[in-house]
This record gives sequence, C-alpha cells and structure tokens, in this order.
Amino acid sequence: MKARKPIYVARPTLPPLEALLPHLETIWDSRILTNMGEFHQQLEQQIEAYLDAGPVTLTSSGTVALVMALKALEITGEVITTPFSFAATAHAIDWVGCTPVFVDIEANGFNLNPACIERAITDKTRAILAVHCFGVPCNTVEIQRIADKHGLKVIYDAAHAFGVRSSPNVIRHGDCTVFSFHATKLFSTIEGGAVVCHSAATNDCLALLRNFGIVDESTIACAGTNAKLNEICAAIGVLQLAALDQNMARMKAVHMAYQTHLKGVPGLTTLTYPEGVEPNYSYFPILLGPDFRCARDTLHHELKRQNIHSRRYFSPLLSEASPYCDRPACTPFGMPNARRVADNVICLPMYPDLSMEDIVDICSIIKDN
Ligand SMILES: Cc1ncc(COP(=O)(O)O)c(C=O)c1O
Repeated sequence: MKARKPIYVARPTLPPLEALLPHLETIWDSRILTNMGEFHQQLEQQIEAYLDAGPVTLTSSGTVALVMALKALEITGEVITTPFSFAATAHAIDWVGCTPVFVDIEANGFNLNPACIERAITDKTRAILAVHCFGVPCNTVEIQRIADKHGLKVIYDAAHAFGVRSSPNVIRHGDCTVFSFHATKLFSTIEGGAVVCHSAATNDCLALLRNFGIVDESTIACAGTNAKLNEICAAIGVLQLAALDQNMARMKAVHMAYQTHLKGVPGLTTLTYPEGVEPNYSYFPILLGPDFRCARDTLHHELKRQNIHSRRYFSPLLSEASPYCDRPACTPFGMPNARRVADNVICLPMYPDLSMEDIVDICSIIKDN
C-alpha cells in the first residue's frame, strides 16, 4: 500500500494570501475590526446581489443565524424538522426553548417528506424548519401549501445550498433562509452565516438581535446576542465570493469524475439533482444498498485505513442523539427512510482541488479493484 497524505472529506478553500494582505492593511489602518465595518457592509451587499433573493443579515455563524431566525419570527412551541441533518438544526430549535419534532424524510432523497410534516402538526406546532440537504432543494411548493393551510412559519436551513440556482429561486421560499459560511463550506468566511428574509419588520429585528438589541446609545430594545461577523472574516468573504463560480466549476468536475468512475457499481447509488436545479456540487453522498459488496461501516474503515476520511453524514440521526432521544414529544413517529439512509450513507471527499488521481484511487477502493 503506498503512503498517502490524508484526504479529508473537505478541504477549505482560501483566497491567495497576497490578495488578502491589502485588505488586512486597510483593517489595520482603520482599526475598525468589527461592528459592521466597511468589509461587512461590502460583503452583505455583494451577497444580496449574488443571491437576488432579498435583504441579507450577515452573522458570525450559521447556528446563531438559525437561532436568530427562530427568535425574530417569535416561534414558540413545536417546530417540525428533519432528523437527517447536522446537530445545529435541532439545537437551534432547542436553544430558543422550542421542541424539535422529527419526522421522516422522502423515500428517494434526503429532505423532509411533506406528507410526514402534515401528519405531525398539532395545536402546538408553530413552524417548519426544513433543510436543503446536500444542496438539493426541498419540495418548497408543498411545504408552503402545508404551512399556509395550518398558519405555520417556514425556515429553510440552506447551510448546504449557497450558490444553488433554481427557477423559481429556492432562496425566495419560506419566511427566512439561513446559510452557514463555516470553513468547510464551499463559500466560507472561516466562521460565519447569514439570514435572508423578505419582511422589513423581521429584518429590523434580526439587525437588533445580531447586536445585543442595541438601538442607540440610550436604547436597548430587546435581549439580543452578539452575532457580528468580524472585519477579517468579512474581507476573506469578499475574496471568496469573487472566486465562487470558479470553485463551483471545479466541484462540478470532481462530481462528474466520481459519477464516471462509480457508474454501474452494484448496490451503489450516487446523488443526482432534480431537473431545473443548477447545483453547487458541495457534497458527494453515496448510498450502499444490500447488493453492495460490503457493509457501509466496513467501507468507511477501509477508506480510513488508506488515509481517506469519508464521513457518515448524517449518522446518528438527530432523533437518536442524547438531547432528544429520550423526549417522546420529539419523536412521535417512526422514521424508516431516515433510518435506512443514516445506516447506508457515506459522504466522499469533496473539494475544488481534489485531484483526479485521488478520485480514481478513492473509487477503486470503493470498487475493491
Ligand atoms: C445543515 C447545517 N445546518 C447548520 C449548520 C451550522 O452552521 P455553522 O457551523 O456555521 O454554525 C451546518 C454546518 O456547519 C449544517 O451542515
């Protein structure tokens, strides 16, 4: 076995250091390091233009953006959500004192199943928090129909979906859409996030929540938090945004190479995108069925032994994690689709400069050539 440098599931993209240095000089000269300075304002405007989906509130993480969206929409009671997501989705609901109610995902996909949402609505339900998992848009039309029928708010966790294009624009759906700009995301500010919202009143509230609820020197309007993105992260974001299309094109090439090399492998299903969606190609989940040559965990360990660090995203299901598994109100229904996917999924390494040679190696380990 040849010695190999570790290949991780993600490898952060960074702008060239020489492009960042002039921005750092500006920050050093001005001594404006945070509190919605020049780079923060620039990035907020540029993201607004890029998304073309309404006003943007930048934040210091995707998690705090989720918490702020729930707060700004004054959500109480129960929030229906998916068990097949990153911990932050459910934790945000818990942090605002609400109960996450997990329901199953679709039979052929990774997103919430609208029929399961409707079945779980009680007189305590106030909102739906759906995730565009792996950047595949949810069934937004059906989710909105259910929300309208039952008077619920809709929040989309679009942590995986920055740069995804669809017609109509997926980011325009729901009451708020939340992004993560964490270092492992294709567009990153190292740590960071954003809320996109169409209501002027909610946007005013989000701006206050981000900055301790402070209106001016003598007025504190609400119990806000500190969710400000600092100037260095914002300056990195400005440079990353300029490189996003190029990075996305490289991700597409990686995606296509995986598709080519994994074509026809018995028992293995790869991610395909629905028609009308221009993906961001951020993730490459594979699902291993009963016809695959080995169990999922066996393959995961084989890859790891060869220094390839895939991830069992998302396993365990959030409904099985300690904060929620012993709370019957969180898990009123079975979730067979989520269970099957969590037991059989592996996300393969995915980043713009993953080499073709590494992709071929990863695929031949999967095929056991
Ligand atoms: C689906 C999902 N939601 C929320 C988050 C939280 O974002 P952040 O790490 O920026 O707080 C992440 C990942 O990081 C995520 O994958």
